[in-house]
Amino acid sequence: MSENRICAVRLEDEHSAMAILDQTRLPGEVSYLTLTTQEEIWDAIYRLKVRGAPAIGIAAAYGIYLAAKAIQAQDRAGFAAQFQKAKDYLASSRPTAVNLFWALERMQRRMEAEAAAGLPVGEIKAALREEADAICREDEEVCKAIGENALTLLRPGMGLMTHCNAGAIATARYGTALAPMHLGQERGYNFKVFADETRPLLKGSRLTAWELHEAGVDVTVCCDGMCSNVMKNGWVDAVLVGCDRVAANGDAANKIGTSTLSIVAKHYGVPFYVCAPTSTIDMACKTGEDIHIELRKPEEITEMWFEKPMAPAGVKAYNPAFDVTDAQFITAIITEKGIIRPPFAQGLAKLMEK
Ligand code: MRU
Repeated sequence: MSENRICAVRLEDEHSAMAILDQTRLPGEVSYLTLTTQEEIWDAIYRLKVRGAPAIGIAAAYGIYLAAKAIQAQDRAGFAAQFQKAKDYLASSRPTAVNLFWALERMQRRMEAEAAAGLPVGEIKAALREEADAICREDEEVCKAIGENALTLLRPGMGLMTHCNAGAIATARYGTALAPMHLGQERGYNFKVFADETRPLLKGSRLTAWELHEAGVDVTVCCDGMCSNVMKNGWVDAVLVGCDRVAANGDAANKIGTSTLSIVAKHYGVPFYVCAPTSTIDMACKTGEDIHIELRKPEEITEMWFEKPMAPAGVKAYNPAFDVTDAQFITAIITEKGIIRPPFAQGLAKLMEK
């Protein structure tokens, strides 16, 4: 990937702002938004201007840092109370990606540790900046490690299928499911990638196809319903997807349609890999049943993307943003710390102890 790479989230501390790549404008327009208020940051997450579990976590970390920076209180108790309010507010922006809560919790723990050590408020703010930077920096390292681990399962020339966008623009860099594709491109692997267009918001065709095409990867867009056709043709050697939350038993929530892909892959004997940083593993969720699935506005299905509404006026539309892939359909979960195979409950428990 080029050093002049596009970055999903960037802190502009001198302006007390955060710049985000507005992903609702891709692929037609590459533009950045400058966010300063908590409301703007909340709205950008809710409206999917910044999206993808790790990038949401990074935006939340910088968001809570900016909120903390603006707090006037000089006493630690007053500061902590306002910090908590901002944290609860940002946490309400989207429910499914655990990285949002993970990043906010990590920021709070740092704040509490510094406060307990008796640091003045000004120094606590500096520590929070450090922590948010660390979350961002570590995500890049984690994604690279996921990519390297995934590459051990792949061979040059393979056909790969993916869903939604779990790429560089959904993370600090490289992506999770797209990390092996970017690393493979640098190493001449010549993967042939099939990107599900990913209805309703077309994040496969708008974002993944754009990101991989820009990187020079051979990518073909297909409609979600074509996965069986493409696999039956023998064009797919492995499916790689990202995820928003992995439960302790290995069930994994990801963009709506992922579960369908996993079932079709099993039918055709194609390995189905979930790429997950450990920050996306939520041992507090026993199974996928415990994962809160975001329901979004029906208009995203009936009215967006077309000149005219593509459904009769007033018709009901069901719009869950994610589904849960049953652990039984997952061949392996690829993390930065290693590759976990079934039985996932034992493997994940051991991994999370590391
Ligand atoms: O609604 P989104 O675009 O935030 O959903 C994103 C996904 O489903 C991704 O696959 C997931 O967050 C992993 S991103 C590395």
